[in-house]
Amino acid sequence: MASVPPAGPEPLVVLSDVQKHYGQFQALKDIDLTVDRGEVVVVIGPSGSGKSTLCRTINRLETITSGTITIDGEPLPEEGKGLAKLRADVGMVFQSFNLFAHLTILENVTLGPIKVRKLKKADAEKEARALLDRVGVGHQADKLPAQLSGGQQQRVAIARALAMKPKVMLFDEPTSALDPEMINEVLDVMVGLAADGMTMIVVTHEMGFARKAANRVVFMADGQIVEQAAPEQFFTRPESDRAKDFLSKLITH
Ligand SMILES: Nc1ncnc2c1ncn2[C@@H]1O[C@H](COP(=O)(O)OP(=O)(O)OP(=O)(O)O)[C@@H](O)[C@H]1O
Ligand SMILES: [Mg+2]
Repeated sequence: MASVPPAGPEPLVVLSDVQKHYGQFQALKDIDLTVDRGEVVVVIGPSGSGKSTLCRTINRLETITSGTITIDGEPLPEEGKGLAKLRADVGMVFQSFNLFAHLTILENVTLGPIKVRKLKKADAEKEARALLDRVGVGHQADKLPAQLSGGQQQRVAIARALAMKPKVMLFDEPTSALDPEMINEVLDVMVGLAADGMTMIVVTHEMGFARKAANRVVFMADGQIVEQAAPEQFFTRPESDRAKDFLSKLITH
């Protein structure tokens, strides 16, 4: 059988010279970051370093002051239909699960596909059940979010984002609100997604996940990307004093 020649890296998310201010305060400085299709990037750094702001600019929950952001070669749309499409292309999972409390698990996952992707209800439900099975909560489909554990709710939130068929998934500390025994069930789903080739940008302090699933670690401090490297290199031989200091504190508490 003729083999397909390996494709080179394909840039999917590209930030160039991005600056972001909140009033006088500059939260992102000179950000240049390219995430290739299928790549998993873990973003770490001290509190207030701009990690959440970075995520929020990529799906335009926050506007940037200057610079450019493109997804799959297209600049971020400003408003209207383009923006709805962007929110579908860029799935986001937050620390708090943000499920609709009055909708069942199944309805939480089918809502976007019915409204935005214009799927028929039966088709959306079929896809949703398959996704809920994939994240291990298929048997909970008819319950309300409050009837599920935090770890189960977070896995539903991941299924809900996947239901929009995103090109990239952003995770902003998806396990930091969870009890310790639930963290791994969420990380396992994320490791599976990474193995399936999903492009992911993950803000997390879970270094085990970074070592297992990340192609690259990006270290931020004071709104800047200070250092980036493959996980093994970053964790064993960090170069900057900021990264060394950050890692030493992580290990000691
Ligand atoms: N809406 C806002 N208005 C003003 N300042 C903000 C706003 N959101 C964030 N900031 C400031 O921008 C900086 C970066 O915040 P951000 O939330 O991106 O940090 P972070 O790296 O995600 O921190 P953490 O690890 O605590 O989540 C902080 O100094 C924060 O106070
Ligand atoms: Mg944050």
